[in-house]
Amino acid sequence: MPILRPMNAPAPQAPIGVFDSGIGGLSVLRALQAELPHERFVYLADTGHAPYGERGDAFVIARSHAIAAWLRRAQGIKALVVACNTATAAAVHALRQRHPALIVVGVEPALKPAVAVTRTGRIGVMATRGTLASAKFAQLLQSLQGQAAFALQACDGLADAIEQAAAPGPGAEDKQNALKIEALCARYTSAMGPFGTQTGALDTLVLGCTHYVFAQEVLRRLVGPDVQLVETGAPVARHTRRRLAQAGLLAPDDAPGALRLFSTGDPARLHAAAVRWLQAGVDAAEAVALPTGDSPGCVSPSLGPGPA
Ligand code: DGL
Repeated sequence: MPILRPMNAPAPQAPIGVFDSGIGGLSVLRALQAELPHERFVYLADTGHAPYGERGDAFVIARSHAIAAWLRRAQGIKALVVACNTATAAAVHALRQRHPALIVVGVEPALKPAVAVTRTGRIGVMATRGTLASAKFAQLLQSLQGQAAFALQACDGLADAIEQAAAPGPGAEDKQNALKIEALCARYTSAMGPFGTQTGALDTLVLGCTHYVFAQEVLRRLVGPDVQLVETGAPVARHTRRRLAQAGLLAPDDAPGALRLFSTGDPARLHAAAVRWLQAGVDAAEAVALPTGDSPGCVSPSLGPGPA
């Protein structure tokens, strides 16, 4: 039976907006592109205001509103994916209240999937300070009470270090960035540990910040080959598909799919990260000034899209 849409409802051809404080949400975008290859995506990295994790709710809510307003007005999105655990924890409720007709999908640390796979019943959770301190996370933890033991670790500075490492710089700088990520990961995993499959050890590690997916190799080396690393990209992508299908808003099967990248910071850095982490054929990122408040925003004409 055809799905009837109200008059001003977005069309299936409209893009899906995705945002994060920076490059972290590319880990979610990658899963979205794999699940929904016919969709048009608009990705906004709020690098000019990153990191979110140590800034407090009021700041993150204000940024989330400014971004959502711009994605709706300037890009005409049909759905919004908040590809940031910190922004979801602080602002997803407020976003849904302000945009009741918009599909808003958030991400949360994958505690439930982790409970399903752990054998030792002990799970490490890495996330930002903001996510771990949020009421939303407290509820999630409460809902799983008695099902596993969680070692929670606020990873101050790690998202920022991963962000700094996004664009290739001079060799020495790259090396320094890599060492910083390594040192932070080592400090935080050893504070939670021990990891392993033996009784009493943490056998599952939740990557509760979308940035940490890009430190996966380092983390894998530190916790060992038998520990399961859990992130949320694929389930969030499947959930997004379900929500679009229910609303009759999936792009047609013959649509080619597309991606536009915007950054409130350095677009070259976002582009470099996208080239590294996404499928081939990524156009240059555009700079957008997006002050806090529901302003229309302003795309820099000199930095329009171009071939990668
Ligand atoms: N990538 C974000 C998250 O998933 C936030 C990182 C930050 O800006 O601190 O939590």
